[in-house]
Amino acid sequence: MEAAGSLADLEACIQGCLACPLGAGRMKFVFGEGDPKARILFVGEGPGRDEDLQGRPFVGKAGELLDRMLGAMGFERNQVYICNVVKCRPPDNRTPTPAEAQRCLPYLRRQIELVRPGVIVTLGATPLRELLGVTTGITRVRGQWHTLDMLGGIPVMPTFHPAYVLRQYTQDVRRAVWSDLQAARNWLAENHGTAK
Ligand code: URA
Repeated sequence: MEAAGSLADLEACIQGCLACPLGAGRMKFVFGEGDPKARILFVGEGPGRDEDLQGRPFVGKAGELLDRMLGAMGFERNQVYICNVVKCRPPDNRTPTPAEAQRCLPYLRRQIELVRPGVIVTLGATPLRELLGVTTGITRVRGQWHTLDMLGGIPVMPTFHPAYVLRQYTQDVRRAVWSDLQAARNWLAENHGTAK
């Protein structure tokens, strides 16, 4: 897997994975998609039913909201990179266990190495916990910059998962997500000259 020199190589190399029990239950492996040179990378938790059927990340209801969130930031979906902590659907959409997530984590880390994003946005508690070891509640940590210790340090902006936003569709929650996404966008504009 370390030898995979492109996202396509990596996907070909891992798509038959059966390293954890989730592999046996999947319809489709959900590798991730988007601009292989994206400046901004979004990490969700894991595929749900629609994603498992289509083999693409964030294509169900939460994905529709993610698309709108991206649009509000001035991005098309194909200008960013979108992936998940686990690549196979957990039964009944439960949270992946730490063991499942840790088995899958080298894949996510290799994806990050290949894309080399300027900034990462984590969606919900799971990517923050598995990628950075942060276990503080998402309500408390969202909006606060973290650093992923890879490629010299990648800034990470945690925000709520779109599925949570759909469940808690309040002005406060929507304002919080908007402010987090703006912070990520502004950071890119300031540090990379352009947000795209
Ligand atoms: N929720 C996620 O965390 N990821 C997806 O791909 C879809 C829904």
